[in-house]
Order: sequence, then C-alpha cells, then structure tokens
Amino acid sequence: MDRRADAFVYEPLPARVLFGAGRRADVAGEVARLGCARPLIVTSPEQHAWADEIAATFEAASTSRFCEAAMHTPWHTTVRALDAVARSRADCVIAIGGGSAIGLSKAIALQTDLPQIVLPTTYAGSEVTPIIGETRDGEKRTQRTLKVLPEVVIYDVELTTTLPPAMSAASGLNAIAHAVEALYATDGNPITSLMAEEGMASLASALPDIVRTPSSIEARRIAQYGAWLCGTCLGAVSMGLHHKICHVLGGSFDLPHAQTHAIMIAHVAAYNADAAPAAMTRIARALNAQDAWSGLHELARALNMPLSLKAIGMPEDGTDVAIERVTQNAYSNPRTPDARTLRIMLTRAWNGEPPARVV
Ligand SMILES: [Fe+2]
Repeated sequence: MDRRADAFVYEPLPARVLFGAGRRADVAGEVARLGCARPLIVTSPEQHAWADEIAATFEAASTSRFCEAAMHTPWHTTVRALDAVARSRADCVIAIGGGSAIGLSKAIALQTDLPQIVLPTTYAGSEVTPIIGETRDGEKRTQRTLKVLPEVVIYDVELTTTLPPAMSAASGLNAIAHAVEALYATDGNPITSLMAEEGMASLASALPDIVRTPSSIEARRIAQYGAWLCGTCLGAVSMGLHHKICHVLGGSFDLPHAQTHAIMIAHVAAYNADAAPAAMTRIARALNAQDAWSGLHELARALNMPLSLKAIGMPEDGTDVAIERVTQNAYSNPRTPDARTLRIMLTRAWNGEPPARVV
C-alpha cells in the first residue's frame, strides 16, 4: 500500500474521455450530446488540414474555423478568436492540436464559458488540466480554474502519427516529468500515484519505439494512454522544484521548453531522492531501472535528447541568476533547496554529467 494512503485529499476532475483509433469520427455526436449545434474549430496554422477534416463532418453553415493558434497563448490572438466566436454565434469550441490550440480553446472558455471538445495531437497533457497560461504585454500569467477544464477529450491515436520523432520524445519526457513530480508532490494521494506510475511506464516503454518507428500505431497508442495519465497527474497535484527550475531557466535564458525539461528531470529526481524514497522506488520500477535518476537520464539519452544545459544555450555564468530566482519564493517540494546544493546540481546539468545525489 502507498505510504501516503493513511491520510490524503483526492478530488477527481470531471471530464468525458473517449479513447481509440478513429475516434475523431465521434466529434459530431459529442457536440450534439453537449446540446450544442454551432462549433468553432480552433487549431494552429500548421494543422488546419485536421480542422478541415473535422469541419467536413458537420453541415457547412453550422461550423467555423479559426486556425491562428500560437505558442504561449498571446492575448491578441484570443481577442481575434473571441471575435470569431461572436461572428459565428458559436455555442462550443472544438480544439485540435497541441499546447497552442488547447491553450487558445481554454482562453476562449475562460472568457465565454463555452464547452470544449479537445482532440490532442501531442503528449503534453494540457487537455485534462484546469491550468491556463496566457501572455499579455510580454508577461505570461498562469492560473488554475475549472472554467478552462475541457468537458470532452477525444484521444484518437491516428492524430499523433505525424508528430515528428524528436517532438514526440520531447513531449513525452515533458509528460513523464509531471508524473515524477506527482509521485513526490506534497499534496499527492495514492490514486494519483497509481496513474503517475502507470503513465510513466507506458510512455517510457513506447517512446523509444516511436523514435525508431514513428508510424507505429501500437507504440503511439501506449504513449497516448500514458500521456493522458500523466496529464491527469498534472491537473490533480502541485508540481515542485523541477517545474520551478525549468520555468526560471526558460524565462531567464530563453531556453527551449521541452529540452530543458528533458535535461533537468533526472537531476532534480536525484536531488530530491533522499527526501522522497517511496517515489524513487516507484519511478525506478516504472522505468525498469536500477534507480530513478539514472533511469530518467538513460531514457533521455535513448531518445537522442540533448543532455546538457550548455548544449541548449545556457550561459555558464547563468547559474547565479538561476539560483537566486529559484530560491526567491516558496513552492512545494520534498526537499528545501539551498544555494550550495543547487549550484552543485546545476553545474552537473550544465556540463551534461550524469545526475547524482547531492548532499
Ligand atoms: Fe510541466
């Protein structure tokens, strides 16, 4: 039994989830089930062909498309999308795509309360979380509100087969990072931990196959199942030091989001190891590895991800700024970080050395 099973709070989030190859054919039925008839389909410019395919399943006059979703959910795009909602008198939103499309869908829901049907094409997991990050006047603001939680999620594996191997690996490791932090979250619970372990094991087994054979429906199906579970963990409990560090590194040095996650998660797991032994056991078990941090490091290596902060453009003297910002305000983490030990960990990560416990 989970060590934390003696006292916890567990609050599952409402969502209707449809899973399986070809499931996108159910989208019109789901619109009707919500009591809606005039969907606005949102996606990014690169994925407009999917929007066209979905639109073709409705009567032409009843649907509209908005294919301008962009990274980090810029407010000016949301304003244009809200205009499209008003002009088309849309009564629900269908989002198809990754973080950009889902972010825009959530931003529309936040302003209008329209119900959302989301069809994810990556493994990031935003579709099952009540979290939204919006960029306004150059500043990104993140909040948690049930207003943005999608009502229906359709996982159709066929929508993921064109995600390039490198992006699949990065997106999958990002999802695994959510499971890692969920396993030692201070507000964790045994049910979320079950999902975290299963989600991590699924992704870890499928991602190497996907990198070798990107069109494998079997590997894609397992990865998508894992992505759902890891996303659910992100929506259920608080993230810790790893997310704080990645946020600081991304914001301070403009480092690529997914690669930063892929490099740091093994180092942060090692850093937190002694404060979260039960989580480490479960991570090692999920990865079929001797210990959690080398399992995470080896997985990133097997997926051909960059292994040092140096390689993705962090300046060597950036460590001081990073430490200052990481220790600035409080957040939940099993170990309270301090400047000395953070420096040891960040230096290892900058050099691309294998992760190690820091005492
Ligand atoms: Fe994250």
